[in-house]
Amino acid sequence: MAKNPYEQSIFDIQPAAKPQGPVECLGMMFDNDQNRREYFLDKLREKLKDPEFRKIEGFPIGSDEDILALSDPPYYTACPNPFIADFINHYGKSYDPNKPYSREPFAVDVSEGKTDPVYKAHSYHTKVPHLAIIPSILHYTEPGDFVLDGFCGSGMTGVAAQCCGSAPKDYRIKIDADFEKQGIEKPRWGDRRVILNDLSPIASFIASNYNIPFDVREFARAGNRILRDVEKEIGWMYETLHTDGRTKGRIEYTVWSEVFTCPDCAGDVVFLDEALDQETKSVKDAFACPHCGSQLTKNNVERVFETKPDPADGKPWKRVKYLPSRISYVVGRQRHEKQPDVHDLQVLSRISELPLPPEIPTTRFPIEQMYHGSRLAPKGFTHIHHFFLPRSAHALAVLWRKTQTYPDPRLRHMLLFFVEQTVLGMTLMNRHHVIGRANVNQWLTGVYYIPSIHEETAYWRILEGKLDRLTKAFQTEYFRSGTSALTTGTASQLNIPDSSIDYVFTDPPFGENIYYADMNFLVEAWHRVITNTATEAIIDKFKAKGLPEYQHLMQKCFEEYYRVLKPGRWMTVVFHNSRNSVWNAIQEAMQFAGFVVADVRTLDKQQGSYRQLTSMAVKQDLVISAYRPNGGLEERFKITAGTEEGVWDFIRTHLKQLPIFVSKDGQAEVIAERQNYLLFDRMVAFHVQRGVTVPMSAAEFYAGLTQRFSERDGMYFLPDQVAEYDKKRMTVREMLQLQLFVSDEASAIQWLKQQIIGKPQTFQELHPQFLKEIGGWQKHEKPLELLELLEQNFLRYEGNGEVPSQIHSYLSTNFKELRNLPKDNESLRAKGKDRWYVPDPNKAGDLEKLRERSLLKEFEDYRASTQKRLKVFRLEAVRAGFKKAWQERDYATIITVARKVPENVLQEDPKLLMWYDQALTRSGETQ
Ligand SMILES: C[S@@+](CC[C@H](N)C(=O)[O-])C[C@H]1O[C@@H](n2cnc3c(N)ncnc32)[C@H](O)[C@@H]1O
Repeated sequence: MAKNPYEQSIFDIQPAAKPQGPVECLGMMFDNDQNRREYFLDKLREKLKDPEFRKIEGFPIGSDEDILALSDPPYYTACPNPFIADFINHYGKSYDPNKPYSREPFAVDVSEGKTDPVYKAHSYHTKVPHLAIIPSILHYTEPGDFVLDGFCGSGMTGVAAQCCGSAPKDYRIKIDADFEKQGIEKPRWGDRRVILNDLSPIASFIASNYNIPFDVREFARAGNRILRDVEKEIGWMYETLHTDGRTKGRIEYTVWSEVFTCPDCAGDVVFLDEALDQETKSVKDAFACPHCGSQLTKNNVERVFETKPDPADGKPWKRVKYLPSRISYVVGRQRHEKQPDVHDLQVLSRISELPLPPEIPTTRFPIEQMYHGSRLAPKGFTHIHHFFLPRSAHALAVLWRKTQTYPDPRLRHMLLFFVEQTVLGMTLMNRHHVIGRANVNQWLTGVYYIPSIHEETAYWRILEGKLDRLTKAFQTEYFRSGTSALTTGTASQLNIPDSSIDYVFTDPPFGENIYYADMNFLVEAWHRVITNTATEAIIDKFKAKGLPEYQHLMQKCFEEYYRVLKPGRWMTVVFHNSRNSVWNAIQEAMQFAGFVVADVRTLDKQQGSYRQLTSMAVKQDLVISAYRPNGGLEERFKITAGTEEGVWDFIRTHLKQLPIFVSKDGQAEVIAERQNYLLFDRMVAFHVQRGVTVPMSAAEFYAGLTQRFSERDGMYFLPDQVAEYDKKRMTVREMLQLQLFVSDEASAIQWLKQQIIGKPQTFQELHPQFLKEIGGWQKHEKPLELLELLEQNFLRYEGNGEVPSQIHSYLSTNFKELRNLPKDNESLRAKGKDRWYVPDPNKAGDLEKLRERSLLKEFEDYRASTQKRLKVFRLEAVRAGFKKAWQERDYATIITVARKVPENVLQEDPKLLMWYDQALTRSGETQ
């Protein structure tokens, strides 16, 4: 007789004894690793009793015992890790302002490495592959340095940091060659230490398994053993009779179909049975009712609900009805398909009569606070156990039980990492694709969606191949003991000492693309430790979090990054495709926290190379490089703030951080950040974010820039940089122009400048080109005539007196007959007449003043206007008006006009947003 499954012993074997010597941890010696773990578990147990400890923001929801069961201190805790500071103090190198450090921004290719077996060992929402991160860590850090990722998800930053010490030779050779090709100093290979944090306990748990070493062979042995034991115990649930009536087959999956009702005869219709065209293997749009023959479509049938006792508490439970429709099974290696027969139905009915196993969580979803709650509750899915058909529930429960009782804690965690990957694929969310033989795990990622056709996959189909793949992936043994420490909590409160981190790589949540806490709830409930959503950085109306709340939370996290990062060090932020307003909120949060952005790039998937971001439209993944200013700039700025000296100190510090020369395929790139208008914007932002008046106008700034720094190809350099630039510039044929998109007045001016600077042109020449460019002009932006733009920003040579140098140099280079002529030569003057050119800084000052006057006049109209919302206006006028009002501390004007600007325009314009946020903060108002 079969043993009662709940009493069956789990492991009659102990893990093979691994020779274990004494271990060192945080400067202490332990006889073995088990003693180390017990010592720190006791400390953590004590700490958990302290009510103050539990009050830390972002503390996960779970009992002491459940938190302890997941943790492996001091390396990992499923709550804020109280040992992180000790870890850094013990292994880190304290900040030394005299130690020279200088790096240029570096772009990563976030799409690289998505097929790597380690990357694929455990899925997580929007993973960034470790192979994409390694070069970045190598570039910015030295062996032994500390890397931090506060939104670590599945912990790929940690894997990358460890790989810097353990990467195989071939890989090192390849990366060394890549660096050499890019003209970057050769990397120094060796382990980096890493701190990983995530708000979600399931994320940090996955990350801990990815980053703490374990015995791979023993893991494979234990995994196989579990699968064999589970098969012994519940194999009967997956048995079916082959169509020969004798041979036993093993069920791969059963397809369940939702049941609808016919509007004409009220008969039940098993959707898949009727709608599936067996020949073409497609679902028909229209099909006949099996009872009355009426033509049915998915739109004219109604859902059938059934009410049964809820297996958790016996109360009536009403949910949509499913019936089994097809079974796919194997006999030997041969695959077959059939309709469920009487025997199959008997087995299913026998399983459904078994009590709900105690391992299955019966927790209620926080439906009312969930974005997808309204999709689940009406279909009858409100609790975790509702998501599993009885057979899946039993299979998962046995797997979970066997894993939970594995004696060695480190392997137990790793086995949970393995088994937990069946949870989502065994829910009713798993879809069935009628065409082709679907792979496992076909739930719709990032959402709670329960399909009408569900594939109930057998646990073994998900796990058997997975175990082999995991074993192979982890055989690369990139881990090192004690190189990583992981913590669970909010990135806005990290237990990390000031100025102790050497590099931050981070991939924060981006607005409302993925509801991490909601999505993780289903798996976290199994571990009984759940994300505390109060500090989750997200836009989610069901949690009463809009864009401002998101920005505020992100700002707090960036402030924490700023505090812990050593001055002069870098942070790389990966930002996924999303709305412009979210992108602006991130930038604003970063700058408000004190960071200076030095480079923004997007991967050009077609060309496989990075482009600098020049337009506002965020359509692709972005990589942002920002730094914490160094060399005592912040200290000096406290004294020089609001003076010219402060401005030039900032610019000098900023120029030091920018790349000097970037080339590709024999062409040099214009480094956008080195152009005068972007330098001006950065300088203004630096002042404004620190609440300091900007002591000069754009024109004064441009003039000062030309006086103090060397200009090359429209970019500005420090004296020692320019020599290097000139040397490298000689090695390339030409300059690659930045691609500019004209969408408003500001971008039109930049575009015109780009056209005119190398080739002064007449209005007639420019006009047709201009008309071609303005197709993307924004709806709300006041249309401007080309002539108006030219007159307000450029100068026209009227044909009198000497030909301006810009025109002279263009004509004499491009027209043989005009070479070597004096500037007042008749033919030269005739050819130069009516050409527009870029004014030199002194003249630009006069023009700028005139333009500003006209912009402010227009702004005054907006202020005085009685219109509730401005429909069409000049953004440049609003920007100029905000800047002036801010300098005069007239926050009320900014707030009044901002409220007249359409909300999407305000949120999508980083400059307006900056003044507006500042005005709100300084006047004590909130949005
Ligand atoms: C884009 S994912 C990171 C994915 C990661 N790069 C990977 O490869 O798996 C963002 C993460 O931020 C976490 N998160 C959200 N709010 C947070 C907060 N306030 N502090 C820390 N983590 C947070 C989410 O739980 C989610 O795991």
